[in-house]
Amino acid sequence: MPTAFANEPILELRRSAVRDQLAEALAGLDRELPLSVPVLVGADARAGAELVSTDPGSPDRVVANAGRATGADVDAAVAEARRGRSTWGAAPAGDRASALIAAAAWLRERRLRIAALEVRECAKPWPEADADVCEAIDFLEYYARLALELEKGRPLLQVPGERNELRYVPRGVVAVISPWNFPLAIPCGMTSAALAAGNAVVLKPAEQAPALSHQLVQALRAGGVPPEAISFLPGEGDVGAALVAHPEVHAIAFTGSLAVGREIVASAAQLRDGQNHFKQVVAELGGKNCVIVASDADLDEAVPAIVGSAFNYAGQKCSAASRVLVHEAIADQLLERLAGSVQTLIVGQAETLGTDVPPVIEREAQERVRRYEQAARDAGGIVAQAEPPEGGGWFCPATLAAALPEGSPVLDEEIFGPLLAVQRVRDVEHACDVVDGLSYALTGGLFTRDPAIVRQVRLRSPVGNLYINRGITGAMVARQPFGGNRLSGTGLKAGGPDYLLQFVEQRAVSENTMRHGLEV
Ligand SMILES: NC(=O)c1ccc[n+]([C@@H]2O[C@H](COP(=O)([O-])OP(=O)(O)OC[C@H]3O[C@@H](n4cnc5c(N)ncnc54)[C@H](O)[C@@H]3O)[C@@H](O)[C@H]2O)c1
Repeated sequence: MPTAFANEPILELRRSAVRDQLAEALAGLDRELPLSVPVLVGADARAGAELVSTDPGSPDRVVANAGRATGADVDAAVAEARRGRSTWGAAPAGDRASALIAAAAWLRERRLRIAALEVRECAKPWPEADADVCEAIDFLEYYARLALELEKGRPLLQVPGERNELRYVPRGVVAVISPWNFPLAIPCGMTSAALAAGNAVVLKPAEQAPALSHQLVQALRAGGVPPEAISFLPGEGDVGAALVAHPEVHAIAFTGSLAVGREIVASAAQLRDGQNHFKQVVAELGGKNCVIVASDADLDEAVPAIVGSAFNYAGQKCSAASRVLVHEAIADQLLERLAGSVQTLIVGQAETLGTDVPPVIEREAQERVRRYEQAARDAGGIVAQAEPPEGGGWFCPATLAAALPEGSPVLDEEIFGPLLAVQRVRDVEHACDVVDGLSYALTGGLFTRDPAIVRQVRLRSPVGNLYINRGITGAMVARQPFGGNRLSGTGLKAGGPDYLLQFVEQRAVSENTMRHGLEV
């Protein structure tokens, strides 16, 4: 029986010895680049270079050459997974838990190198890179323990002459489709949950980050997950779509944009030839995350928390703050202080310790953020900016906007970049009305010193994760189970006690124990 779950401790970056180790890990990794990332179908591996991941801070640097999965690979991987559901799915939960815990140990041993790979492949600044590796380890350790709980089933009412049992059994073949922004933790969370519950997985990683997902697959296989239970199909959206449509896939775990999530939900709802089950879809989608600042808020606390939530990792977290709703009585004061803070942000390379805002992931992302920035500028709403450095890299300035007109796309759409909009509200009730009017409901924040306002916002807020008097990013496994409502997601919360339930079906057995002639 493993010990009680505890979160993996993050690195102490304030120590120069730790920083030196990271610099060494990055130099070592750079000597190995580009990495080769194969397509893995069961025990078969095929190298290739059809899919290339590059450094967002220096797009000429190739980080990995990956194979690109074909339609035939999708069919073969699902066939392998059908085998995997029998072998791995029949293993006792204790064996599965041990394999996941061994995979966590594999990642732990290599955490510096993997963090360095996050810096290169996804331009994650060091604190975020390290946190992503720790979160991946947490998911493995946490879901391993949940698997042991799940195996016990649930107690039912027993009456004389009857034996009742409720068990959880794996769904079968799970397709996991992941985004790039938590390039290890998110694929790890979805994959390890499905595996913990006894399913076989076919993983389609984000095309921007194949090398990081490959680390996960290596960890799982080294930990003892058999090849037929975890296949790996680097590729673009078409590979994901083919998996979703496959009649022998039982469940889809997807994290990504609303646009793709909608397609997946619609495609998975179709019954195709040879399919005799409904598909379960677990979809974690985008957000438009608001922070409410009441008139009594402590601005010393609110300003750094809002700026960190909006601009760390260049605003590319699904949980990032994107809109501030501030009571008009303190709006000028807050805006002045946010502007001062934004002007001091350091926009720079992810590898430089002290960088606040790294480049965004790719050219399309830069162009998208610049379009929203231009919309804010056209509306006369830019209040402060921190400029990016000269030279290559998909940089965007860190931008603070205010006084935007009602209906501006900057206020309503997910930007997924370093742009924060501030809006005045009459009071907290008005702020709650604005939040309630949004289709997204992922994260939200509140700054106040008044317990009555805390109660009011807790009752009215539709978001999946509400954070009070703190930053709104950085959910920790087992402490802040994470996931959105409305169009931000369908699923039970990741890193929470119910997450595995989405990857199992329930079987109830009721036995009459009064039969005559029964042999016991
Ligand atoms: N709610 C959460 O927990 C959470 C966490 C992280 C990111 N996100 C969201 O993810 C988005 C950013 O990630 P992204 O740019 O990688 O998202 P994306 O939707 O563009 O891509 C996600 C994955 O889906 C694949 N895909 C693309 N088209 C597909 C299709 N038609 N069928 C099946 N798969 C397809 C992609 O190849 C990729 O692997 C943002 O909207 C962000 O808010 C949400």
